[in-house]
Amino acid sequence: MTSAPITRIGILTGGGDAPGLNAVIRAVVKSAWNSRIECVGLEDSFDGLIEPHRSRALTPRDVTGILRLGGTILGTTNRGNPFAYPVSTSEGVHDYSDRVVDTFHKMGLGALIVIGGDGTLAIAHQFCNRGIPIVGIPKTIDNDIVGTTNCFGFDTAVDFATDAIDRLHTTAEAHHRIMIVEVMGRYAGWIALYAGVAGGADAILIPEIPFDIALVAQRLRERDAWGAKFSIVVVAEGAYHKGGTLSLVQEARDGYAERLGGIGARVCETLARELGKETRSVVLGHLQRGGAPTSFDRVLATRFGGKAVQLVWSGEFGTMVAFDPPNIVARRLEDVVGKTKTVPLDHDLLLTAKALGVTFGD
Ligand code: F6P
Repeated sequence: MTSAPITRIGILTGGGDAPGLNAVIRAVVKSAWNSRIECVGLEDSFDGLIEPHRSRALTPRDVTGILRLGGTILGTTNRGNPFAYPVSTSEGVHDYSDRVVDTFHKMGLGALIVIGGDGTLAIAHQFCNRGIPIVGIPKTIDNDIVGTTNCFGFDTAVDFATDAIDRLHTTAEAHHRIMIVEVMGRYAGWIALYAGVAGGADAILIPEIPFDIALVAQRLRERDAWGAKFSIVVVAEGAYHKGGTLSLVQEARDGYAERLGGIGARVCETLARELGKETRSVVLGHLQRGGAPTSFDRVLATRFGGKAVQLVWSGEFGTMVAFDPPNIVARRLEDVVGKTKTVPLDHDLLLTAKALGVTFGD
């Protein structure tokens, strides 16, 4: 017996935003429409299935002109896990997963396209196991999702961080200072590595390589010795001193992930002390997640959206679209969730940077 074709799907965006989310939504809505599939946009991640009034039909007209926009027209949240939903009472968290499954069916949806990072995709996987047909689309500026060479948003974040480093270069040189740039990257140093190399940083500190600040200072002294007089240090927010711990501004608690920050300022203080030079630190923070996606991210997001609708059409659920250059492929969700794609210590870019004299503090 063949099952009835799917005529209605839900789409949601979860976790931190990333440039390219709107490009994906547009691609899904337009290609679904052309395959006679209606799209329902669910607002603020799974909240749109907890509270059914937070959803709306999306037609090509609703997504016209959003390709180049940052953010997400559907809204997002990174504390909306329906299996452990934070509630503002002494209860702590509440499990709304039954309601999500129920609402999914009541809305007459045949499948769900979930666009998110590892946390959101892990929730999606749990709902797959509860019988909801799901196709995932990976999203994160950190580029740390297993199974895909790139996530959209990463290229835009690297581009922005590179531009920031370029600007800091001129002022660093003018004042003979050391400038420290803290970039995002909780548990993986992809942004720091790529933007650091693209921006010509002298030191790049990433979570994969706990650093020794004395070695960083030594490298910067050597630069001074041959007359460089200024240096640029790029630090991922998740980098930490050898034997130390992550620099947190807030511990994880019910439904909320830990928040990182502060390592740039610490490195700045220590280097000022060690070298007796003027240092300044800059945190790029959420600026890296804002603004228009680069053309690379627009194209990748569009390819991801188109492929996700093809997977719905062919009934390949429990999957995640992925970039395996030059192709867009499908991976099993169970093979990718709960893992982090960190920078391998033998990655050619890391080795090349080292060969050029960049220190990683090891
Ligand atoms: O996971 C993407 C990311 O940009 C991390 O690099 C960063 O630590 C986090 O999001 C910040 O999230 P929030 O918006 O909750 O502060």
